[in-house]
Amino acid sequence: MAEPFTPPSSILIVGSGVFGLSTAYALTRRPEWAQTAITVLDRSSGGEFPAKDSSSIDSSRIVRADYADRAYAHLAAVAQDEWRKPGADSWGGEGRYAETGFVICADAGPEVRPDGMRTGLGFAKSAYVNALELAEKEGLPEGSVVELRGREAIKQASGTGAPFGDWGYLNKRSGWANAEKSMKFLYDRVVAAGRVKFVAAAVERLEIQGKRVTGAKLQNGTSLSAELVMVAAGAWTPSLVDLRGQAVATGQVIAYTDISDEEQARLANVPVLMNMTNSNFMITPSNNVVKIGRHAYGYQNPKTVSTALVVPKNEKDSVFPEIVVSQPYTHVDDAKLWVPAEGERDLRQGLRSMVPWPELKDRPWTHSRICWYTDTATGDFVITYHPHWEGLFIATGGSGHGFKFLPVLGDKIADTIEKHCPAEFQDKWSWKEVTDIEKAIVTEDGSRGGKVGLLLMDELRKNGSRL
Ligand SMILES: *[C@@H]1O[C@H](CO)[C@@H](O)[C@H](O)[C@H]1NC(C)=O
Ligand SMILES: *[C@@H]1O[C@H](CO)[C@@H](O)[C@H](O)[C@H]1NC(C)=O
Repeated sequence: MAEPFTPPSSILIVGSGVFGLSTAYALTRRPEWAQTAITVLDRSSGGEFPAKDSSSIDSSRIVRADYADRAYAHLAAVAQDEWRKPGADSWGGEGRYAETGFVICADAGPEVRPDGMRTGLGFAKSAYVNALELAEKEGLPEGSVVELRGREAIKQASGTGAPFGDWGYLNKRSGWANAEKSMKFLYDRVVAAGRVKFVAAAVERLEIQGKRVTGAKLQNGTSLSAELVMVAAGAWTPSLVDLRGQAVATGQVIAYTDISDEEQARLANVPVLMNMTNSNFMITPSNNVVKIGRHAYGYQNPKTVSTALVVPKNEKDSVFPEIVVSQPYTHVDDAKLWVPAEGERDLRQGLRSMVPWPELKDRPWTHSRICWYTDTATGDFVITYHPHWEGLFIATGGSGHGFKFLPVLGDKIADTIEKHCPAEFQDKWSWKEVTDIEKAIVTEDGSRGGKVGLLLMDELRKNGSRL
C-alpha cells in the first residue's frame, strides 16, 4: 500500500475555506513538506480569508457525530474530541464550541422510500444506532443518547416546548461551533506557521501544458504556477474544473431574527433542533440572534461558462468549451438578495414549530442568506487526484456537512495528497465514473428536504419573493 511519495516543490491551493485552509495548515506541520512553497488563493475582494460569502463562515454550524454512515460518524467523533478541548490554544476555546446537545426528529412513516432510499426517519434511526454505538465505545454514561418516543418526550427535550416530530433522539454529546471564529482561529495558526503565502485574487481559469495543470490565471491576467494545484473552491469549484456528474453548487436558505436579552437567556442552552422530515433546523441561538436553516435539495443557478477545464474527447477539442454549471449567487453579488418566498415560508414554519412562542411567531427576519453547498449524489466529499489531468488535486463536495471536520479534515486531505487516503474513505472520496453528465445530481443520503430541481432565478421571480 505504501507508495513512495515526494512532495512537490510548490503547491497552489485555490480556496481558503474549510477544505483549503485546513490542508494548508496540515502541510505546514509535515516535515517532509518543509521545502515546498505553499500558496493559498482566495477570491475575496476585501483581502479576508476566506471570502465574506464563503460557506465556511457566517454564524454557527452544527457539530455532531450523528450520521447514518459509520465512516463519517467515526471521523466526526474524532473531530469532536478536538472541538471539546478548551483554552485559547485549542479548538473549543474562546466560545468556538458549545455542547448544547442535538435533537433530531422526524414524522411517523416509512424509513425507506419505494426507490430504496432512506427517508428522514430512516436517516434519524440509523444515526441513532451509530450514536449509541459511539457512546458505548467511548464509555459514556447511560443517558448521553436518549431515544424520544412520541411528541411529549420531544417536547420535553427540545427545551423550547416544541413537540416537533413523532420520533427522535437527543444526543447530549453534540453541539455547535462558531464558524467565523473557528476559521479565524485556523487562519491565525496558518499565518503564525510563517510558511504560507496568501493571495487575494479571483481565478479566471486553470492553466495547462499538454496533460498537466501548471497553475492558475487570475482575473487580472497574472498567472501563478505551481507543481501541484489543488482546487478547493467550494461551490465555485465546478466553474474551474468540469465536475458534471460529480458535484453541483446548490443554494440553501437561511434566515435570522433578533431576540431580546431575556429571550436569549431562555434559549441559550437549548439543543440544536432538526426536523429530519423537512430538514429545517435551528442552531442554539447566540448573541441575541435566532438562525433557522433548511438542509434541502437546494436551488441551482445554471450559467454558461467557458472557464471550466474539461477533458477533451478528441485531441482537437477545446479544453475550455462552453458548458452549463450551477454557479453561486450571493449577497456579495447582490446586496439586496433575499431568499425566495418558497424558502422563506419553510423557514417561518420552522421557526414556529421549533420555538412555538406567540411573541416569535411573526417576528420579521433581520436578514437572510443563500448558503452555497457543493453537493454530490451520495453526500460524499470529492478528495482525489484528477483522473486525467496531472498535477491537479480536487478537494470539494462538502455537501453541507463538512464544517464539523475542520480540526481533522486537513490531515486526511494531506494524507490523500500523499496517496494514503484513509481506507474507509477511499471509495467514498474517489472520482466517480460518470456515464451521463446530463443527469442531475440529487443528494440522496436521507438528510435532505424541500423540492428537487428548483432554479434560483425562477424562484426569485415568483410572487412574494423580494427580488
Ligand atoms: C416536520 O416536517 C414535516 C414535513 O414537512 C411536517 O409535516 C411537520 O409538520 C414538521 N414538524 C413540525 C413540528 O413542524
Ligand atoms: C494581479 O493580482 C495579483 C494578486 O493580488 C498581483 O500580485 C498582481 O500584481 C496583479 N497583476 C496585475 C497585472 O495587476
